Amino acid sequence: MANRRRSASFYMTATTQFGLEEVLADELRQLGATIDHVGQRAVEFSGDQQLLYEAVLWCRTAMRILKPFTGFYARDERALYREVSRVDWQQFIRPDQTFAITAVVNKSSFEHSLFVAQLTKDAIVDQFRDRTGQRPSVDVKNPDIRLHLHMLENEVTLSLDAAGDSLHRRGYRQGTNVAPLNEVLAAGLLLLTGWDGHKTLIDPMCGSGTLLTEAALIAQRIAPGLYHQGKFGFENWSDFDQSLWESVRLDAQQARLEEPQAYLGGSDISAEFINLARENVAAADLEDFIRLSVRDVKDAKAPAKEEPGIVIMNPPYGERIGEEAQMAALYKIIGDTLKAGFQGYDAYVFTGNLEAAKRIGLKTSRRIPLYNGPIDCRLLKYELYQGTRRAPAPEQASAPVTLGGAQKHAFTPDTKNWDTLKEPAPVNRQASTEAEQALWRELRGQRLGVKFRRQHAIDKFIVDFVSIGAKLIVEIGGGIHQEAGQAASDAGRTHTLEELGYRIIGFTNEQVLEHIDQVLAEIRQQVGPPSLAPSSTEREG
Ligand SMILES: C[S@@+](CC[C@H](N)C(=O)[O-])C[C@H]1O[C@@H](n2cnc3c(N)ncnc32)[C@H](O)[C@@H]1O
Repeated sequence: MANRRRSASFYMTATTQFGLEEVLADELRQLGATIDHVGQRAVEFSGDQQLLYEAVLWCRTAMRILKPFTGFYARDERALYREVSRVDWQQFIRPDQTFAITAVVNKSSFEHSLFVAQLTKDAIVDQFRDRTGQRPSVDVKNPDIRLHLHMLENEVTLSLDAAGDSLHRRGYRQGTNVAPLNEVLAAGLLLLTGWDGHKTLIDPMCGSGTLLTEAALIAQRIAPGLYHQGKFGFENWSDFDQSLWESVRLDAQQARLEEPQAYLGGSDISAEFINLARENVAAADLEDFIRLSVRDVKDAKAPAKEEPGIVIMNPPYGERIGEEAQMAALYKIIGDTLKAGFQGYDAYVFTGNLEAAKRIGLKTSRRIPLYNGPIDCRLLKYELYQGTRRAPAPEQASAPVTLGGAQKHAFTPDTKNWDTLKEPAPVNRQASTEAEQALWRELRGQRLGVKFRRQHAIDKFIVDFVSIGAKLIVEIGGGIHQEAGQAASDAGRTHTLEELGYRIIGFTNEQVLEHIDQVLAEIRQQVGPPSLAPSSTEREG
């Protein structure tokens, strides 16, 4: 890399997904960062301007790179407004620029992250009006400057978001199947396997090809940020160093290897998805490195002339009622295929359906807990030496028990991973009004009243109101459909989140949060007021 004068060092925070913190810390270390703390879904580190540019350009497992500039305690709204007003905002935003605030509020007396963002925006805009007579506009979609507000127990940290958008949106994706992996998670899975970028890599259920695309980026030493369209956030900052950025980009462009470094092969049963994968691979200019074909997983086998490497896949988890038997059969086929066709390989199956995964019937050598959106998942590793031993036959599914008149299978916790199951879900938002609080109480804790069913697609979840025989499918960002009158009969995979050890005080998906009022209104409209089936012990007043 070109030799440049290093500027002063400062603190930064890189955010990521649960389970990827250590691989992100490794990525940052490789860029020369000093790691100060590896936290939950975040890594704090220090370095200079060049490192900040390189982190945005190179990190495969970072969602955001933040540069904190102030912190304070905000007891209440007045304190928040006052403390935000103390910042000299002209240091960060020009009146002719647009800005937006992403607020994340955890365990705080402030209940609405949107309200916190709004109040912060008001304080900023008021300061501009008072001091200059002009004010910057808000653009939530594509702002020049994105601010990030993190509030934990009323301790506030304000940061500049260096990328300006979540880095999982690489910019190469043209189309997706129903359940694509997000790019950060796909890269994280690959890095968690320890794959060296040279060994053969096969994905026999590749969908739109995210794992293969990210694998090619790793193998060919391609910085994911090179695909970014438009400016990064830091290019609009007052301290932007154009020539430093150009040389960091140039280094990245020169680092790309043109000779294929590894055999990367993918297949899928769906011709449509393979076409999507081809489009994505072409958009990323990676056609020379990835082979794609339409094939049923049962016919997949290791390429004859290649040294064994890894086989990695993200099979369906089973979304709809009645798919359990189908999933069990599919996962059994996966196990048979791995055993017969991939001897000498290390296999990795990333799934949120642990019940079906037992049907793979091979001994796991590692189980790494992760999330795919709100779904708790595992990356399961199987070592497939010649004559791989089969695991003992899985236990029979637990006997159905009757819950609220519906046939359910009892939930058997995976005690080996009990600690991780107890990991609380990310808490972003608390219920606000009394009515909402009552609704949340209804949503959690009632063993017979409400069931949450884990969903395959990360943008969807189901709330089963067993007591009234209704099922709500909440589509994030869209409407809510009621499958009225359906007594829940989806055996096996429905657990209350309480049973999984979660404390529920809000929805966790950012997109749900954005539409929370609509979601709550719809739920109330569909199932009546929260008092419909309240838990007597939790009732207020
Ligand atoms: C969860 S998606 C994989 C998504 C993929 N990782 C991505 O990022 O786009 C599961 C894929 O398995 C494929 N699939 C389902 N049954 C299959 C089978 N019997 N053989 C091969 N592929 C299958 C589906 O077509 C789907 O694309």
